[in-house]
Amino acid sequence: MIKFKELATQFKTPLYIYNLDYMTTQYTELKDAFKARKSILCYAVKANSNLSVIKHFAKMGSGADCVSIGEVRRAFLAGIPAYKIIFSGVGKSDDEIREAIESDILYINVESEAELGRVEMIAKELNKVSRISVRVNPNIDPKTHPYISTGLHDNKFGVDLSSAKRMYIKANNSDNLDPVGIHFHIGSQLTELKPIYESAEIVADLVRSLQNIKIELKFFDVGGGLGIKYDNETLISTYDYAQAILSTLKGLDLTVICEPGRFLTANAGYFVSKVLYEKQNGKKKFVVIDGAMNDLLRPALYSAFHKIEAITDSKTETTLVDIVGPVCESGDFFAKDYPLPDLAHNDLIVVHSAGAYGFGMGSNYNTRGRSAEIALEGGKARLIRKRETFDDLIALEKDFLD
Ligand code: LLP
Repeated sequence: MIKFKELATQFKTPLYIYNLDYMTTQYTELKDAFKARKSILCYAVKANSNLSVIKHFAKMGSGADCVSIGEVRRAFLAGIPAYKIIFSGVGKSDDEIREAIESDILYINVESEAELGRVEMIAKELNKVSRISVRVNPNIDPKTHPYISTGLHDNKFGVDLSSAKRMYIKANNSDNLDPVGIHFHIGSQLTELKPIYESAEIVADLVRSLQNIKIELKFFDVGGGLGIKYDNETLISTYDYAQAILSTLKGLDLTVICEPGRFLTANAGYFVSKVLYEKQNGKKKFVVIDGAMNDLLRPALYSAFHKIEAITDSKTETTLVDIVGPVCESGDFFAKDYPLPDLAHNDLIVVHSAGAYGFGMGSNYNTRGRSAEIALEGGKARLIRKRETFDDLIALEKDFLD
């Protein structure tokens, strides 16, 4: 039981709380599911990029999947070794590619033929060999929210099979490229196994056809995407997930890399906010809280459902309310038509499943400082990011006033 009231008094609100012990459980379960093979879990840093969270995974032996050089730097700072860091993303700048090659990370996950050309050129300038993998877009519908679907040709991610093959041949013939891996990631919050299995099969077949032309890869990177329970979703078990993937690899000697984000952190996180007021507009009742869409964007952006818990002494009947923040947008809501009792000033609203894509997608919109973040471990709470102040927000502008 998390003592939300005590924590809110001690650290103030709005507040992000992460239960690191829960993250350990999730990590261990998924790692165990792949035990029949060599595997590396490369935590998808974008899900929750707080340094203390990344460090927690580093201590368990995790690698990192990064999508900017900033994330690569975070991974290093948090103690993840270079040989477990992967750098993906459709738009890497020359500077990012240069730094990734110089840092000697495990591989750069290349997402287009043009990018492969840049990586080769930069590696040549540096007189180095860059390890690469190719992100294959298997054109499989992952059956998830269109905004977080990535494995269809309609999506900007990865390359089709024939381009991928050309890229491997080019890389294999280059003095400055070393093709070591193959990658796919078809989407996020996946709750159906079939598209994952089908994608793995397509990509494993490509590995076999590369073997036939003497291109031997070492890493089979299945991306992330494993779904979690926000509401009453039926989930894929970690066992079934791993078995489906491993079943496609018969006869292949490859290390499996998996890049979970949400699965490891989402349900470890809570966003805690205070009730400011209740108000009625015609038939509609609103609960206005001190947290807002700048803290947690998912409901506004994807109409995502997050379970809400009210911490209150109120014993009244529940009615259907909208839970909204102070930001000047009608999209600034956490839930609509949600059953809650009457609430009082300073009662707490706890938004569940907030540990992934919560804080990281936050902003300073409306000149609101970002919340503090705290970690719970073995029942102890500690601050892992200070609350942003007004001075923090204006630090990069204030010297330019004339
Ligand atoms: N690997 C790659 C290449 C990815 O693009 C992603 C997520 C992951 C791994 C981790 O996926 P996960 O295991 O967390 O599903 N903001 C959205 C999610 C965007 C996911 C982007 N890529 C949300 O709030 O639902």
